[in-house]
Amino acid sequence: MSDTATLEYKGKKIEFPVIEGTENELAIDIKALRASTGIITLDPGYKNTGSCESAITYLDGEKGILRYRGYKIEDLAEKADFLEVAYLLIFGELPTKAQLDKFHNDIREHLEVDEDIKKIVDSFPRTAHPMGVLSSLTSALTAFNPSVVNINSEEDMYNAVVKIMGKFPILAAWTLRRRNSKPYDYGDSELGYVENILCLMFKKPNEKYKINPKVVDALDKLLILHADHEQNCSTSTVRIVGSSHAGLFASLSAGVSALWGPLHGGANQAVIEMLESIRQDGGDTAKYMKKAKDKEDPFRLMGFGHRVYKNFDPRAKIIKKSADEVLADLGINDPVLTIAKSLEKQALEDDYFVKRKLYPNVDFYSGIIYRALGIPTEMFTVMFALGRLPGWIAQWREMRLKQEPIGRPRQIYVGENQREFVSLDKR
Ligand code: SDX
Repeated sequence: MSDTATLEYKGKKIEFPVIEGTENELAIDIKALRASTGIITLDPGYKNTGSCESAITYLDGEKGILRYRGYKIEDLAEKADFLEVAYLLIFGELPTKAQLDKFHNDIREHLEVDEDIKKIVDSFPRTAHPMGVLSSLTSALTAFNPSVVNINSEEDMYNAVVKIMGKFPILAAWTLRRRNSKPYDYGDSELGYVENILCLMFKKPNEKYKINPKVVDALDKLLILHADHEQNCSTSTVRIVGSSHAGLFASLSAGVSALWGPLHGGANQAVIEMLESIRQDGGDTAKYMKKAKDKEDPFRLMGFGHRVYKNFDPRAKIIKKSADEVLADLGINDPVLTIAKSLEKQALEDDYFVKRKLYPNVDFYSGIIYRALGIPTEMFTVMFALGRLPGWIAQWREMRLKQEPIGRPRQIYVGENQREFVSLDKR
């Protein structure tokens, strides 16, 4: 007998089923609420509302747990590579060597885009933010690949997946090349997936791209750590756009736009800009801690706090350790790392942050590593998108395979009651 919850309103009692997830999470199933009571729930920001049942990612914000398809993020970051994790997220199982090789070879078939895409890239000002360019190019990709709009079979789905896994890094890299006035490059299909991302971004027109294994390993780990995070803002965007049966590329384009925001994926760029401004202001971290706590001051400590994690973001722990290793490996001494550690130490001992359970999140240290890898600040959120791509794909695929209904929330209207029209000459 499944558990139930009873709602009592104006003397009427209604029972609703309580469902339990694999990790014993509980939810009141309110699918019948409006039909049986005429009442809806109200939950701005969906802080208490589940949008779906998903088998992809599990996280426990109180315990600081994150798992992709049941595997601990710590194990995947240490023992797997990004393409393996992408396969795991999208298809549900760690691939065999043969499956992984086939996946990579099928992706290699799509390591190019229509040459007319270059005309679209060229139409943007060189100063355009790469996330705005990437969102536009991802949507434009549909025009050159119309077959990916109507996905009616597993084969259609697989073809759309390997297409976007191959083409998205090219679009991302070309946003940087446009800014730097560099020729658009198609990379090298002989390279590994992550090696080729670096090649696409940085290969000089007249030289063979020189691989630095330490840089590849650091980026591979960062992409794994960003690969999925259940129903975050951008993933929910990808799901709701896809729920209208818009194509995969159009849904991903919307996800890129949602990720751009500084409260979400744009935080990694905002963190470095914040640390840099503190450094230029003499490194007075106490002054900025004070500003972060002042309700009258719009300043927030970027890279701190999280909607779900009320404990350390497990990804932040791994990235912080990796930042120390990468800077040491590359012989870099970045003064903003010292400032970041000072802010973290102060926040972890400050009642304002402790009471609100504000800890460093995935974005707090990631920018320090991207900077050490030679990636420009305005490209940090594009790197986040490159990591989140397989997660977005996996969530979109799950939503479509389960034939979820179109997403259409209700509202409580608080505007004017009905009133009579007044003609212009009488207003
Ligand atoms: C990502 O959802 C995901 O999974 C996202 C993500 C992913 O992988 O997809 O993990 C990636 O987006 C990480 C978050 C990156 N954003 C930032 O670092 C921006 C700074 N953080 C905040 O803006 C904020 O913490 C959010 C947006 C992350 C979470 O906001 P919530 O859950 O809506 O919480 P809130 O804004 O209601 O804050 C609760 C309290 C408030 O104070 P009171 O009104 O209770 O007095 O905490 C305060 C806030 O003012 N607060 C902060 C703060 N974050 C929250 N105060 C100072 N500095 C901060 N960073």
